Amino acid sequence: MKQLHHKQSGSSYKKDEEIAISGMQPYSPKSVKHNRSFSRSLNYILREQRILFIIVGILIGATFFFFQPTFLSSSEPDPPVRKASHIPLLETNNLETEVESENTLEDRNDVDINNNDNIGIDQDTDNTDTSSVSGRIPVGIKRKRLRIVVTGGSGFVGSHLVDKLMARGDEVIVLDNFFTGRKENVVHHLGNPRFELIRHDVVQPILLEIDQIYHLACPASPVFYKYNPVKTIISFSIFSISTNVMGTLNMLGLAKRTGARLLLTSTSEVYGDPLQHPQKETYWGNVNPIGERSCYDEGKRVSETLAMDYHRGAGVEVRIARIFNTYGPRMCIDDGRVVSNFVAQAIRKLPMTVYGDGKQTRSFQYVADLVDGLVALMEGDHIGPFNLGNPGEFTMLELSEVVKEVIDPSATIEHKPNTADDPHKRKPDISKAKELLNWEPKIPLREGLPRMVSDFRNRILNEEEGKGN
Ligand SMILES: NC(=O)c1ccc[n+]([C@@H]2O[C@H](COP(=O)([O-])OP(=O)(O)OC[C@H]3O[C@@H](n4cnc5c(N)ncnc54)[C@H](O)[C@@H]3O)[C@@H](O)[C@H]2O)c1
Repeated sequence: MKQLHHKQSGSSYKKDEEIAISGMQPYSPKSVKHNRSFSRSLNYILREQRILFIIVGILIGATFFFFQPTFLSSSEPDPPVRKASHIPLLETNNLETEVESENTLEDRNDVDINNNDNIGIDQDTDNTDTSSVSGRIPVGIKRKRLRIVVTGGSGFVGSHLVDKLMARGDEVIVLDNFFTGRKENVVHHLGNPRFELIRHDVVQPILLEIDQIYHLACPASPVFYKYNPVKTIISFSIFSISTNVMGTLNMLGLAKRTGARLLLTSTSEVYGDPLQHPQKETYWGNVNPIGERSCYDEGKRVSETLAMDYHRGAGVEVRIARIFNTYGPRMCIDDGRVVSNFVAQAIRKLPMTVYGDGKQTRSFQYVADLVDGLVALMEGDHIGPFNLGNPGEFTMLELSEVVKEVIDPSATIEHKPNTADDPHKRKPDISKAKELLNWEPKIPLREGLPRMVSDFRNRILNEEEGKGN
């Protein structure tokens, strides 16, 4: 069979050779047709100056591309964020649901950068533009929507930060155990599909897919962290130690697993009772490691250490903010911090409590300024640590005078013995943040204080009417 096959194919070659020898061209329809259509197309283009029209068309297209509005608008400011007006805080009895909304993921990468569906309550934080966070994005091109976790997001600072992130169109997941935070602070976002509120203690691990983590969860006022010092340090402690250590570890673990960037909110308390004034980030501090405040101070110092070790050892992208005294609407009323104390006491017609001689100094930063600083730090290229605070320095007696001016000129003060390890002086050197983050606070105390007074009045009134807050 094999031989037969060879024979047959051999004879067919022979036939081809014979045809060629006889002078006939082998049939090749494809090449002939191709040549013809190419020359026909060429003729078509060359006829009636069509080539000229094509060139002119290309030139017009190129000109339009280079002079479109995106390029012309590069010197114009970003569209302003809508400023919502003050709306009275809502009642607690409307707030039964824990996780109120589900994420819709389909259009996650489709956020319109001009979208601003903030339905906020008090939006003093919104008087900032978004330029520092979104950068310049060509008209018509949509900025990638980020999914961001804010631990402690129903607290004072966290809730203002959440407002800003929601206003710029991101998805926000708040993790909070409501130890000092209040659902009322974020109630205006419930029902928004980009917002989730999860009751979660950061001492426990959690699995989420996210792009950024703002880690704020921590009892931040002496009244609360002294109440539960062990958890503060473990969550930083087992009931004040555990939040700072385990909480930060868990969030760093989450950042490592997901590749998310983590911003840690540390504190000026890492400087302790400072021997350097004003405090620069290079100063290592003067902290009493065994005092009543050390669950907080040392807890935050450990958090910074953990953040840097995860950065160096595991390549986690971290940012560290050292926050100085901050005030504004939604602060806990009776949290023992000096601004909230004075304001609440003056509204309740009680004497303002001044500890010691009242000559110790603090600097007070309005919360909207801090939120701008946090976002600038998260979006920037520098790890930190960065001092975020207002360098304006006031003694406690001077602060009480400002509160009198703003709330009640007849308000009085009463002196009490000073608390243990109370720092004598506190004032941030913010030159590093000015230079590298292009950030500095804009709202002075006399301008910021009246903005928190109406919020405090409403809540104190509700409290007195038995509605709670
Ligand atoms: N406000 C300031 O002046 C100031 C100054 C320095 C540093 N900071 C830091 O900024 C962050 C926010 O402070 P704030 O003033 O908004 O305090 P806050 O008490 O109002 O907010 C803290 C939030 O964290 C939550 N939280 C506490 N422990 C938690 C846990 N284990 N798990 C989950 N959630 C938990 C609380 O419920 C609350 O909502 C804190 O880390 C604080 O140390 C604030």
